[in-house]
Amino acid sequence: PTIGDGDTNPRDFVEKMKAGKKRLVIFYGSQTGTAEEYAIRLAKEAKSRFGLGSLVCDPEEYDFETLDKIPEDCAAIFVMATYGEGEPTDNAVQLMQNISDESFEYSKGSHSLEGLKYVMFGLGNKTYEHYNSVARDLDQRLTESGAQRIGERGEGDDDKSMEEDYLEWKDKMWAEFSAVMGVEEGAGGDTPDFAVTEVDAIDQAKVYLGELSARALTKTKGIIDAKNPYPAPLKVSRELFAQGHERNCVHVEFDIEGAGMTYQHGDHVGVWPSNNDIEVDRLLCALGLAERRDTVINVESLDPALAKVPFPVPTTYDTVVRHYIDTSAVAGRQILTALSRYAPSESARERLAKLASDKEQYASIVAGGCLKLGEVLQLVAGDDITVRATPSNTTPWKIPFELVISAIPRLQPRYYSISSSPKLHPNSIHVTCVVLKYENVPTEGIKPKWVYGVGSNYLLNLKTAMNGEANALVVEEGPMMPVQYAIGGPRQAYNVDGIYKAPIHVRRSTFRLPTNLKSPVIMVGPGTGVAPFRGFVQERVALARRAIEKNGPDALDTWGQISLFYGCRSEHEDFLYADEWPEYTRELKGKFKMHTAFSRSGPRKPDGSKIYVQDLIWDDRAHIAKAISEDKAYVYICGDAKNMAHQVEEVLARILAEAKGGSIEDGKKEVKLMKERSRLMLDVWS
Ligand code: 2AM
Repeated sequence: PTIGDGDTNPRDFVEKMKAGKKRLVIFYGSQTGTAEEYAIRLAKEAKSRFGLGSLVCDPEEYDFETLDKIPEDCAAIFVMATYGEGEPTDNAVQLMQNISDESFEYSKGSHSLEGLKYVMFGLGNKTYEHYNSVARDLDQRLTESGAQRIGERGEGDDDKSMEEDYLEWKDKMWAEFSAVMGVEEGAGGDTPDFAVTEVDAIDQAKVYLGELSARALTKTKGIIDAKNPYPAPLKVSRELFAQGHERNCVHVEFDIEGAGMTYQHGDHVGVWPSNNDIEVDRLLCALGLAERRDTVINVESLDPALAKVPFPVPTTYDTVVRHYIDTSAVAGRQILTALSRYAPSESARERLAKLASDKEQYASIVAGGCLKLGEVLQLVAGDDITVRATPSNTTPWKIPFELVISAIPRLQPRYYSISSSPKLHPNSIHVTCVVLKYENVPTEGIKPKWVYGVGSNYLLNLKTAMNGEANALVVEEGPMMPVQYAIGGPRQAYNVDGIYKAPIHVRRSTFRLPTNLKSPVIMVGPGTGVAPFRGFVQERVALARRAIEKNGPDALDTWGQISLFYGCRSEHEDFLYADEWPEYTRELKGKFKMHTAFSRSGPRKPDGSKIYVQDLIWDDRAHIAKAISEDKAYVYICGDAKNMAHQVEEVLARILAEAKGGSIEDGKKEVKLMKERSRLMLDVWS
């Protein structure tokens, strides 16, 4: 541990709790910020319900030797996300290790944590096999060591019902908490987290207009990471689907030359989007701030231990709503409860309170209708939500801006599997992104409308703006109106002298080719699931060039076969990188084989059903069984988690079962073993 000022140890959270008179310490295992958000919400509730202060901690920044030193009248809260295949988030790896480490007194099944009271909430995704395993493991460890859990362990399912799972769990938990801790409800009162002040005289050059880190404005360099993304110029941006196809898929190349950032094949890139103009205008109008949108504001935290100002300041109302908070997210039920007291009329107040308290009404109108906060405020006030909001057609609410900042979470980056190899493209990062657009589920009084994915539509709009394409930013009115992003601003990171930029950073992954070139490789990636495999194949092409240059034309003879199973709807419409694969095949001299399933234009099965990648895998089972069982092949699956990945795993299990003459259960065990040994790796999303 490093020792800071004086003789206090900055990694000792118990000392900090005592110094700050906090009775709660809240740890969050968070990868994309969701668990952190819930941690902060719990801290705020502890304050407003019971008047209890909390220390909200990133577990990476603390040591856990002192877990048994938490005072009697205090408690610990753990908000732990499970990531990927049952792994802890990066910032919780150390915590999970410590807790099972032999050197920790309390990890040996002793009773040394007797007296420790804790609360456990896990965030997981039921699509994955190891649902909430991190929270479950940690919970078990703590209980084994004699600690006492308050209430039930909460488990949220990110696939379906995270928010409802949380709301359902926390009210019961707080009731038990009150009894166990001997604290009374109502001791707190509503204290805001932030103070917002408008600033008159200020040097405009010091105002943040979308820059994501303090460094961005001072132009000082630092390590490029999630806390300090790099505004990368777009080198290339083009459409990958055939013209006239009803969907879009964007290929983007970010220029990273001289940025001091590196990547590997299989890594992810985080792209920081902004909110589209329509939603920005709508929320500003509903808050009565449209005409003062460029006013410079300062934001201060009233309790820095509980809530840090989530973006750099000074800034403007417009910038906060456009770049820093998740204005485009479906409005949460809890936010709505807090806002009804600021309603512009009695009827609006009643309608909002009803939406917030009636779970069914909320589910059908707000969740089903995919309504953003701005839309909900307009709707209950009786405004028309199908036209573009202006100050004259929108009823203004007098909601303190500090409440908006604490209630709407910070806008998070969107992660994409990188589709290039640094060996072929050292100075650029390629992204292959299918553009998300779907219809809401209209209910009584809510018209059908398009819902646009924030990240992918931002990239689509950047493409059209950058290429000066017609119709790029046309806005139609009516329920199905398309989105429009303001690309660029007065002194934006995003469009400087006609160079379009987007903030990015790289997230490392373990999705990598084997280093042994003899091992066969089987890649399964239909749709945009092919993205990382374009990088994989490029990686091998670069290695092949080097090998041939060094050892002559036969250099690849000893290499294992690499196979790609790819599927799309039609050979002529959405076949991604169709022109590149023959070239890769040629350069890899027969060591690369592509299997394609064209589900809507290709042949069908005898019963008339579609042929998918898993069917091609089954057809190729003799080769695949041998590659896996005898030649120690590496298998990779990328793309849709819900159906495709499961079905591919299932077919692998069947193939292995058949090859070994075992049952399907034996096959499933083999597949599980392959995963544990990192011979089967997944990069999947739902
Ligand atoms: P479909 O849309 O014609 O049903 C990329 O999206 C490709 O994956 C498309 O050809 C799509 O086919 C196909 N696909 C859809 N569901 C799938 C599944 N469960 N397994 C494998 N491929 C699937």
